[in-house]
Amino acid sequence: MSNFNDPKWWRQAVVYQIYIRSFADGDGQGLGDMAGITARLPHLAELGVDAIWLTPFYTSPQHDHGYDVADYLDVDPRFGTLDDFDTMLGAAHDLGIRVIVDIVPNHSSDEHVWFQAALEAAPGSAERARYLFRDGRGTDGELPPNNWQSIFGGPAWTRVPDGQWYLHLFDRTQPDFDWRNPEVGDMFEDVLRFWLDRGVDGFRIDVAHGLFKEATLRDQVITEVPEHSADSAMVERQQADEPMWDQPEVHDVYRRWHKILESYPGDRMAVAEAWTSTAASMARFIRPDELQQTFNFNWLLAPWSAESFAEVITDTLSHVAIVGATPTWVLSNHDVVRHATRYGGGPVGVARARAATMAMLALPGSAYLYQGEELGLEQVEVPQEFWQDPSALTTGVEGRDGCRVPIPWSGQVPPFGFGPGSGQPWLPQPPHWDELTVEAQAADPSSTLSFYRRALAVRREAALRAGDEVTIISSDDDVLVFSRGDLVCHVNCGSTPVTVPAGEVLLCSGDIPGAPDTATWLR
Ligand code: NOJ
Repeated sequence: MSNFNDPKWWRQAVVYQIYIRSFADGDGQGLGDMAGITARLPHLAELGVDAIWLTPFYTSPQHDHGYDVADYLDVDPRFGTLDDFDTMLGAAHDLGIRVIVDIVPNHSSDEHVWFQAALEAAPGSAERARYLFRDGRGTDGELPPNNWQSIFGGPAWTRVPDGQWYLHLFDRTQPDFDWRNPEVGDMFEDVLRFWLDRGVDGFRIDVAHGLFKEATLRDQVITEVPEHSADSAMVERQQADEPMWDQPEVHDVYRRWHKILESYPGDRMAVAEAWTSTAASMARFIRPDELQQTFNFNWLLAPWSAESFAEVITDTLSHVAIVGATPTWVLSNHDVVRHATRYGGGPVGVARARAATMAMLALPGSAYLYQGEELGLEQVEVPQEFWQDPSALTTGVEGRDGCRVPIPWSGQVPPFGFGPGSGQPWLPQPPHWDELTVEAQAADPSSTLSFYRRALAVRREAALRAGDEVTIISSDDDVLVFSRGDLVCHVNCGSTPVTVPAGEVLLCSGDIPGAPDTATWLR
């Protein structure tokens, strides 16, 4: 039973992220697709999720696996057709599962008609004014217009044959739009309406904090920041000068999008992917007249420790409370190392991942799951000859391919039922995944899949009824204990067994409540 009839369904929703090319392949070409999703929806219904978020499936040359969109209003033929999309959407709705699609407004593909027209047109033309074309510096304009670096490595500017440069905060095949040009905003409002008219329930907004850059496109002031550590990540961001991120003008866009969403029936929503520098700036995206949710990435950065988990919870809840919004929680996605591996890998990593998942699911708000975490999948070491992540290809350093390996569904050998036949998927699957297939885990009550199914069911029965009041009872001695109404969540992040509080044990992530690397829900 999902909460399909709850008018503000997204407030407490469990949303399952589908990375389309790696979820399920309907036609045997080695790439996940729309038909594959439709066929596997019953798995998600049985898991008990309320919604799916689909990563980009639009027409795209796939340099960044769909985050380089060439046509925002069509399905890439590799993934199917608009009819296949409608079929998938209808089937999901029939099962009580909402559908959120990804929208990529910061940049397009260099194959988008607008960018192609911009390349054909002269400097200073209306066509170029939809993107950020500028003259270079140096005697002949041979130097980039400023010192900005691409997130994927190297300068954020590429020069075109007539000598001008265009800005791309990501790959050079992903030119940034100029959101100060009203044509861009108008185009995206049409895109939103196109998908809302088809019946989608919401949007995940890619790089939501990036649309506007400081108008002067001035140099970034580079300061020495301490070596990266998960603990200091938020602090580091506060010290950095960021003329390319989180500009105040972006909020007007989301006020307009709020009105569009509101004009449709059924509580349509949007969730921002906004890597903001502080929790306070994150909260600005979810003011009452802006977006419904923003991803809270704190948990992606937090190490395995009771103290850091307590900090994530307290910090998040206090900041969303200021704007009267509900929190979101996420432990894994297609851009980060899977949490079982972050917490040490192997049986310990998986045990900790299950315990952290229970902590997340006990909290009020919406939880985002990443495909495969319900199987306890770990990051895969993908051989270099298979790398496809543009950041890995640019920098030569292993990138995000390891969390994007196609899902094992059944059978003893790759492709593990990913698609029909024996054709291999776009990234190779480890042979030991035969023990981790959905088929192998479904029948085993101690499997991670069975655990996730139970956890989502108990969450619906116990956690959702427990109200929204959270109290951190303790995070001493590496044991986190917090309550949500009459529900108590106990997580032992330490290395010695402890006694859990008195009460009825509703769920335990391992065999013994209070054991190391184990979470327990009690009432
Ligand atoms: C964030 C997406 O999650 C990531 O996969 C993508 O590479 C960048 N945005 C650029 O669109």
